[in-house]
Amino acid sequence: METLTGMERTNGCGELRISDVGKDVRLAGWVSRRRDHGGLIFVDMRDRSGLVQVVFDGSTEGLDFAKAETLRNEFVIGVRGKVRARSEDTINPKMATGEIEILVEELRILNKAKTPPFYIQDGVDVDEMVRLRYRYLDLRRPEMQRNIILRHRVTKIMRDYLDENGFLEIETPMLCRSTPEGARDFLVPSRLNPGQFYALPQSPQIFKQLLMVSGFEKYFQIVRCFRDEDLRADRQPEFTQLDIETSFLNQNQILTIMEGLVKKIFESTLDVKVEIPFKRMSWDEAMTRFGTDKPDLRFGMELQDISEFVKGSDFKVFNSVLERGGQVKVIRVDDYANIPRRELDGLVEYVKIYGAKGLAWIQYTEEGVKSPFKKFYSDETFEQIKSATGCKTGDLLLVVGDKASVVAQALGELRLEMARRRNLIDADKLCFLWIVDFPMFEYVEEDKRFKAMHHPFTSPREEDIDLLLTNPEKVKANAYDIVLNGVEVGGGSLRIYQRDVQEKVFEAIGLTHEEAYAKFGFLMDAFEFGTPPHGGIAFGLDRLIMLMAKRKSIRDVIAFPKTQSAIDPMSHAPNEVDEKQLRELYIKTAVKKK
Ligand code: AMO
Ligand code: AMP
Repeated sequence: METLTGMERTNGCGELRISDVGKDVRLAGWVSRRRDHGGLIFVDMRDRSGLVQVVFDGSTEGLDFAKAETLRNEFVIGVRGKVRARSEDTINPKMATGEIEILVEELRILNKAKTPPFYIQDGVDVDEMVRLRYRYLDLRRPEMQRNIILRHRVTKIMRDYLDENGFLEIETPMLCRSTPEGARDFLVPSRLNPGQFYALPQSPQIFKQLLMVSGFEKYFQIVRCFRDEDLRADRQPEFTQLDIETSFLNQNQILTIMEGLVKKIFESTLDVKVEIPFKRMSWDEAMTRFGTDKPDLRFGMELQDISEFVKGSDFKVFNSVLERGGQVKVIRVDDYANIPRRELDGLVEYVKIYGAKGLAWIQYTEEGVKSPFKKFYSDETFEQIKSATGCKTGDLLLVVGDKASVVAQALGELRLEMARRRNLIDADKLCFLWIVDFPMFEYVEEDKRFKAMHHPFTSPREEDIDLLLTNPEKVKANAYDIVLNGVEVGGGSLRIYQRDVQEKVFEAIGLTHEEAYAKFGFLMDAFEFGTPPHGGIAFGLDRLIMLMAKRKSIRDVIAFPKTQSAIDPMSHAPNEVDEKQLRELYIKTAVKKK
């Protein structure tokens, strides 16, 4: 009899079904779980394809049962045996292979394993630092395998779809010139050019535009981008974009191709139907109705303005807000007029995180109206507010008065928080949305200047070009974001392709001609050699997969991510380097060694 090596598999563990009963099979994989019933040992055996129950029976002829008794979790084994049907009462409907089991005739232990720091199974409750420290074990868990496999399938579909639509995959440099106007760069010192640095790309933006100048017409790349930003659940210092650029297409044509792509991705990998075209909403409308440029449309609870009802009273808080051009807005929380006082106090603290100075409320209870500003208004006013906001008895209004931007942020965040608390979010719903007509610039208080809201290569609307230098706050851009369930999964724009317009935009954001030329001269030069009208988009691949896999963090869909403080607890990056390495790079650190 030949000896098992583990390399002669006939099947994946998770593939076997009732129709395979009677087959002789050879499997290889990990011990996921073992139950020792004396003369009988049951092992759930796992490989990438799933789990199957294998049975070691002490009475099986030729089987080294003593060896089976030494098996522990995560040992790597090879088995040879026969597929047999499980008896009626031992069928496990939760397992894909639950109707069968393998009666083992031969066992080979291919490798032993120490007791892992956590169980290799779905839904383990382990500190994420421990998971990241032992990422190779974390990735062995079926749910993590599914996420990474989904990611592979999605990028495959992206490549196929774009190829079918005439796009070319072209690589762009990782060692780039540092250009301002984005997040902070990651810098790489150049040994051959002492004192000089490359920047890792925040995105291939300028290169993909130059590829349009070169005449490639349709480009894409699944590309790593690097941004030294403060990190959150949906932000990593290095992340992946599906980056796209096209020539000779208008905004609608670009959005239509992207809708087709998104539909294809979702429908081929998840059991869902995606309706296209997606809803389109102007940035102004999104801010007014939802207080954010990435509204989650899976539930209502829209912001409503009650300024007209509360103006001109003796209530100082609202008066001073309205006199200064601010607004008083509410969200309606249905059937929650009896919210506990303690929760209200907590909400006051919650909105303060988002810059609101306070929070008020109106409770339309069976016993009448309860509100901190009740004494300042007539019953009639409260009735008017009630009907204007569509309240019924039993509903709660949460009220914030402030300048528009603060009201938007505070109520926008409160809307999300209340939806979570009141369980209003249907996790199975997919609400795609394009946000369009973005403002071209936003004013940055700190720097006392305008900054491009998307990036400075975004084209202003044709009819607004004359306002660039006179009324920059009024200029709208040909920019668009794609939002899914409240997450910005992509963004893009039509680009500037005329040198004079590009110069005006740089001027509007406070760059002098000399500065602009020093930083972006190569792009402006290119604009003089026959640049086609062009535009594009970049999807955040990690975010897209996160939503598809229904995870809360992009770390769960990246094989080897970094923590919130941008470290890798497994390989311990970043790390200190040798003096010699630094000397070669002409670098001295100002950090004192401990
Ligand atoms: P933008 O900066 O909007 O556009 O990036 C595109 C998309 O990338 C994702 N994303 C991130 N994902 C994870 N971690 C991060 N730190 C992170 N930052 C951004 C988001 C975002 O929508 N060059 C332009 C695109 C263009 O104009 O064509 C760009 O990079 O999902
Ligand atoms: P104060 O004058 O700060 O004691 O506030 C009186 C009440 O007004 C508080 O109980 C709050 O309910 C409410 N309030 C204060 N500031 C705001 C605000 N910015 N928006 C809405 N309500 C507020």
